[in-house]
Amino acid sequence: MTTSGSADLVIVANRLPVDRVRDAEGNPAWRRSPGGLVSALEPVLRRNDGAWIGWPGGDEAGLEPFTEDGLRLVPVALSAQEIEEFYEGFSNGTLWPLYHDLVAKPEFHREWWDAYVAVNQRFAMAAAETAAKNATVWVQDYQLQLVPQMLRELRPDLKIGFYLHIPFPPTELFQQLPWRRQILEGLLGADLIGFQLAGGAANFVRLVRQRVGHRTHRDTIELPDGRLVRARNYPISIDAAAYEELARSEGVAKRAVEIRAQLGDPETVFLGVDRLDYTKGIRARLRAYGELIEEGVIDVGKSVFVQVATPSRERVEQYRLLRDEIDRLVGRLNGDLARIGRPAVSYLHSSYPKEEMAALYRAADVMVVTPYRDGMNLVAKEYVACRFDDDGALVLSEFAGAAHELRQAWQVNPYDLNGMKATLVEASRADPKERTRRMRALRKQVLENDVAHWADSFLTDLAGDVKPKR
Ligand code: G6P
Repeated sequence: MTTSGSADLVIVANRLPVDRVRDAEGNPAWRRSPGGLVSALEPVLRRNDGAWIGWPGGDEAGLEPFTEDGLRLVPVALSAQEIEEFYEGFSNGTLWPLYHDLVAKPEFHREWWDAYVAVNQRFAMAAAETAAKNATVWVQDYQLQLVPQMLRELRPDLKIGFYLHIPFPPTELFQQLPWRRQILEGLLGADLIGFQLAGGAANFVRLVRQRVGHRTHRDTIELPDGRLVRARNYPISIDAAAYEELARSEGVAKRAVEIRAQLGDPETVFLGVDRLDYTKGIRARLRAYGELIEEGVIDVGKSVFVQVATPSRERVEQYRLLRDEIDRLVGRLNGDLARIGRPAVSYLHSSYPKEEMAALYRAADVMVVTPYRDGMNLVAKEYVACRFDDDGALVLSEFAGAAHELRQAWQVNPYDLNGMKATLVEASRADPKERTRRMRALRKQVLENDVAHWADSFLTDLAGDVKPKR
């Protein structure tokens, strides 16, 4: 047993909800990084004398726990080598592509695995030292799948939850992983394991039965010592009311008008917003759009495609290659198809504050979200939350987790270029009544199932009131 701390609720996530920045005098300081997860959990953390454990980004060592804006934050340091092997390597070079349907080829390296084990152990230790007796610890995402079991060994008194934000892969793909059994056992340290979709939870239960040999019954796994573990789906969401409020603000309204003017007042604005990641299908959607211009179906004088691509994981090889590819494609599309003052694609490799995103959502007639595979995709939900005018069309990949809830979107298969072209045209030319009918249904779904509802459902089930599912 480790000596316990005083927090009744502990969130363990790869990243802290703050970024390390320099203030005006050049001294290091912390800045809140806006995220749905922290805004959803903040009220529960405050109520429960909570703490958040995570990596502050970078390789600065010796950072002590601190309180920021009333939130207790516990930094876990990573060395430069660990950033390479644990974060860029095993998390984002092995697990990320493996869990996203092999959209890129995962690499298997034993040193990466060793770093993953060592770093997970460090997070588990930090959680064990922070949590009060009988506290609840909620571990987040694929970077920390061994933490539940490691933590249970250190602190058997705790209630442990785990939530996977990305897809859990089909059993055939998961079996490729040389350390598949360790990962399954790592997760089984939790009392409740949450997934985005019912399919992911079912894949997990099947693997546990086949690979580890435990008895299972529907969403419940029985361990040899009699402990029960549940695997269920809890689709994540956003703070929908806050997005709507922002979108309604005067500043955002003005900015949306200004954006359209700056784009040359086109008839139709198409919009893509993604982390620059190969799972997002950015290339395919831009190619589809380019072909529509080439074929004369879309007039470059009347439409523009705005693509925001937020820089991400820039030192990982696959991400560097992707950036070059998109740079080349956008260059070629604009070189071949643009006219003076009328680009085919307005490409922004940058990240923007929430206000600017809300203005872009309001300015966009067609939101294009076409990942090859995505755990949920919150951009689709943000767009819907911002369209309080009941207008705007959402084109959504059927391989995004969000497609299960957002049934009224124009759904596409991102591998089917012709299908995607037809849908882009259909959505952009849809009758206003049809757009409104669909947007109303989407808004009802998103506003009724926000991120607070997500967090409450998970934490209520974890607390022990799990009712059997019909
Ligand atoms: C996805 C993952 C998160 C991750 C985020 C940003 O949403 O599910 O765990 O934090 O991407 O990626 P990064 O590598 O910058 O943390």
